[in-house]
Amino acid sequence: MAAPKLPPPGVRWTGGPRGFLKVLDQTLLPARVRWRSCRHPRDVFDAIRRLQVRGAPLIGVAAAYGMVLAARRCRTQRELEKAGARLASARPTAVNLAWAVKRMLSLQTLDPRALLVEALRVHAEDRSACERIGRYALLLLREPVLTHCNAGSLATGGAGTALAGIYEAAARRRKMWVFATETRPLFQGARLTAWELSRAGVDVTLLVDGAAAGLIASGRVRSVIVGADRIAANGDVANKVGTYALALAAKAHNVPFYVAAPVSTFDPATPTGKGIRIEQRDAREVTAPAGRRVAATGIGVWNPAFDVTPARLVTAIITEKGVVKRPTREGVARLLGGGK
Ligand code: MRU
Repeated sequence: MAAPKLPPPGVRWTGGPRGFLKVLDQTLLPARVRWRSCRHPRDVFDAIRRLQVRGAPLIGVAAAYGMVLAARRCRTQRELEKAGARLASARPTAVNLAWAVKRMLSLQTLDPRALLVEALRVHAEDRSACERIGRYALLLLREPVLTHCNAGSLATGGAGTALAGIYEAAARRRKMWVFATETRPLFQGARLTAWELSRAGVDVTLLVDGAAAGLIASGRVRSVIVGADRIAANGDVANKVGTYALALAAKAHNVPFYVAAPVSTFDPATPTGKGIRIEQRDAREVTAPAGRRVAATGIGVWNPAFDVTPARLVTAIITEKGVVKRPTREGVARLLGGGK
């Protein structure tokens, strides 16, 4: 099986425990491929906040490496905890970030060597979670597929979550046509998903977000698949703003709506989607998309980065540990039964 050509990895540790983190600056893609070197935890914080590194699983991986950088500057565990809390606050919705920080702190060590081993493990586990998600997803997906935002290789330590099944199909030379929404206001679909899929030789068709419901209604989409930033204990899913509208349209037209995510994206401590904090971002992302002012001046702007799709609209959640069909609190608990 020929593996499809994936983009360069979103993060890369360079050197040993005294080394540093290189982050592929996703805000410049696809026009420019440029790396940012992060030698201080505040660089990692800044890269996450600016979305130079983005996508819930990849943010978690970056934060794990960020904790190695932090440990080199801390004299006590308490100081490392503070540095971890600061990193975790960079983006509030993607739970993988807090999860990775917590996992690194659970080692109870300031030894950068031990912490680097753990960060590399977090990275490798995410890569293999993506592979397993891809194999499960391929059993369910019917093409043409519609996806939103970017839940591909650029958002994870591996081949992606929502896009993993598409790459798995490509590796098996199975045709899979993908519709990608442009994903306003930051265009992750147009800039990242369309770029990574087309480089991999996958047929991809771009549409504006507002065209998605009509496309679904036309019968030309046979599955919708998205990633997730946080999944509550009852299966409610927080993901890129616009996901909820897609789920409603899919339900109305009997198109299966799948969510693909590693178990590190589940938050059993949050009972329902109502408890998920949604990140609000700068108004200029909306008034001046791609840096060019289009909106009238003197107006209000509402710019949530995510929305919540209730579990009842989700056909299945696809994870590396298996598939939860028609997610419920019990189904999610069974999946996580073996521990997160
Ligand atoms: O704001 P972003 O670009 O980090 O949002 C990303 C998403 O919403 C993805 O769908 C989600 O993180 C899953 S990535 C595998």
